Amino acid sequence: MGYEIIEAVPLIGALGAEIRGLDLAKPIDDATFAEIERAFLEYQAICFRGQKLTPDDQLAFAARFGEIDTYPFVQPLEGYEGIVPIVKEPETRINFGGGWHTDTSYMPQPPKATLLYGVDIPERGGDTMFSNTYAAYDDLSDGLKQLLDGRTAVFTASAVHGARGAYSHVKAGDVKRRQDESQAELRVEHPVFRTHPDTGRKAIYVGRFHVERLSGMRVDESAPLLSFLTSHAVKPEYTMRFQWEPGTVLIWDNRCVQHNALNDYPGQRREVHRVTIKGDTPF
Ligand code: SIN
Repeated sequence: MGYEIIEAVPLIGALGAEIRGLDLAKPIDDATFAEIERAFLEYQAICFRGQKLTPDDQLAFAARFGEIDTYPFVQPLEGYEGIVPIVKEPETRINFGGGWHTDTSYMPQPPKATLLYGVDIPERGGDTMFSNTYAAYDDLSDGLKQLLDGRTAVFTASAVHGARGAYSHVKAGDVKRRQDESQAELRVEHPVFRTHPDTGRKAIYVGRFHVERLSGMRVDESAPLLSFLTSHAVKPEYTMRFQWEPGTVLIWDNRCVQHNALNDYPGQRREVHRVTIKGDTPF
């Protein structure tokens, strides 16, 4: 089915589309939003270029997709609990969001979508990679699908946000951490292959950084299978490399997409504002 109100221009073969002709600071009627939502489900990541949004505008647009979520590990923008500023200063080395993952998959109900607004974008670099994990699932052999279908894995934020995690030394001035040890050490079980509640399609849900092991197995026993799945999920043919501009809005579907913020802009500053939309329990 095509689009009658919006213009949706595919970005690349694997996933992604640019939606043209809309000013997101203005009210969007229900018929237009229904097409935006359809494009979001069809293309998995949709962008809108050249926007000029206040924090209230960003939250209002994000809220059309569902209830706004909060993020446990970073201080929100002052006065806006739902907006997390992701800032990397020119001298900073650590890169928030670097490494393939799907957002906060270690929570019992991870966010269904993430919406970023480009505020300060490096002249070169600072792209975000995205991978279509439906396509990655579809390409698995029937044997592997049968072996792991219905199985769960243990997800945790420990390796990233725990006391000795990768972000434990992030300094003030960039992404301002608010550490919650109880959340960082939480362990939850989610399916290895997740079924999308709206499309009914299956996608690989395990990622490299937030999964400890397959349920019922030791870490060393799980490692070869997890290593295969997490590498397979981000093979180049499933991916899209997204270039930001100031004023770009991008929303992606965490249920069928993994992403990876590239750290290739030393000496330059990057600031994007992140809003997540509440999701349900993966099944
Ligand atoms: C994230 O992982 O949510 C951040 C992605 C980015 O900064 O491009």
